Amino acid sequence: MELKNLRPVTGGDGQKLYIETYGCQMNVGDTEIVVSIMQGEGFVHTERIDEADVILINTCSVRDNAEQRVWGRLQEFRRHKKRAGVLVGVIGCMAERLREELMERERIVDVVVGPDSYRDLPNLVRTAAEGARGVNVQLSREETYAEISPVRLDKNGVSAFIAIMRGCNNFCSYCVVPFTRGRERSRSPETIVREARELFDAGYREVTLLGQNVNSYSHDSDSGGHSGDFPELLRMVAEISPLLRVRFATSHPKDFSDKLLETMAAMPNICRCIHLPAQSGSTRMLTVMNRRYTREWYLERAAAVRRLMPDCALTTDIIAGFCGERPEDHADTLSLMREAAFDFAYMFKYSERPGTKAADEMDDDVAEDVKTARLSEIIALQNELSLAGNRLDIGRRFEVLVEGVSKRDTDRLFGRTSQNKVVVFPRGTLKTGDYATVEITDCSSATLHARVV
Ligand code: SAH
Ligand code: SF4
Ligand code: F3S
Repeated sequence: MELKNLRPVTGGDGQKLYIETYGCQMNVGDTEIVVSIMQGEGFVHTERIDEADVILINTCSVRDNAEQRVWGRLQEFRRHKKRAGVLVGVIGCMAERLREELMERERIVDVVVGPDSYRDLPNLVRTAAEGARGVNVQLSREETYAEISPVRLDKNGVSAFIAIMRGCNNFCSYCVVPFTRGRERSRSPETIVREARELFDAGYREVTLLGQNVNSYSHDSDSGGHSGDFPELLRMVAEISPLLRVRFATSHPKDFSDKLLETMAAMPNICRCIHLPAQSGSTRMLTVMNRRYTREWYLERAAAVRRLMPDCALTTDIIAGFCGERPEDHADTLSLMREAAFDFAYMFKYSERPGTKAADEMDDDVAEDVKTARLSEIIALQNELSLAGNRLDIGRRFEVLVEGVSKRDTDRLFGRTSQNKVVVFPRGTLKTGDYATVEITDCSSATLHARVV
């Protein structure tokens, strides 16, 4: 790299930072933390890649296709790299997983920073501007970025994410997350409640508490502060105001407690939607996946949700074609989906991830066309279940939080029910951030249509 082409960087110097985000909601939250850290050092956030001095891509490694998209994007960044002084950084889970290999395979990459090293990012960008490589993929047992105020990049000013914990200790045999995100650690309730209150005061009406496994949230108060488990934290956030909707993701079925359900049932502003990834309906597969629950346990938890909160939506994640999955295991998945009557699901083909137990010790032996066929069946069934669930809503009334103008029809607004279903309705005099009572008149498998009551 020729140094004479580079602009000297002292602090951020008003240099423009562009950042693209892939992967889960944790990454969306992390991007807001990264922008906050970079702004603190004088960088200015831009949404226009063509004027950026620093281009960051916040990446996901959970499946191979997630990584392929990023490799493709990096190719496209080459054209921006032609402008003098432009730096490209890869951050997030792929940075953690692939480390220096990223720079070796893609010569436009100047900076590689893992999820626990974002405080070092401004420094590494400066190092790269001087022509050296900027790499930090150190994971941490403590880092939670607790005191950093994320720069909110959401478009609507109504709903925001709050990361309450980081990392994962579960080591499901197929999953790369424990390797890219490191060990579990939780933020103090004080910093979380403060962040939620600030959002509410700024006009936000919905917060989603985020973690890879929110039920294992646990904070002990060495420093004399508050200690508590997840249901207690949830209650504290929900008590900020009845006008603040509270959501959370993701819950692990093995840790899904009655105390959590009772807390939800007691507080109407904790949204009636639980994302509870099942992954499979076969106890045999769940065992090899190291999920540490059985089909019966999962269905009992689903029944407990329906018992305590009959109006609560239940959503899930399903993996098709994991190692050794037989036709009867797949049939078990379909029957579990029917029995749990999921309102929505994220559905994936199993993708082998290097370094996981499944990659090291098991055979990825379900043929690609079989995986595809099973996934199609799972998707078709979920569409049927979603449509059936939505049809039951026709004629019912729901309170929706208005999130913005419908993309298809500017005379209409869209919002969500407490169950997290999207509803489209006439604009009237309503505006983003309002609550409205609507009556459902029609539906598809993805959307409810309504009139305002
Ligand atoms: N912590 C959350 C989700 C993490 S990743 C949980 O435990 O539920 C999101 C989803 O990606 C997982 O629920 C799983 O369904 C899917 N997933 C993870 N690893 C995968 C892999 N190797 N192949 C296919 N899907 C995978
Ligand atoms: Fe991955 Fe399992 Fe942790 Fe979820 S709980 S992030 S699926 S290891
Ligand atoms: Fe992907 Fe990392 Fe999230 S691997 S799913 S971005 S934790």
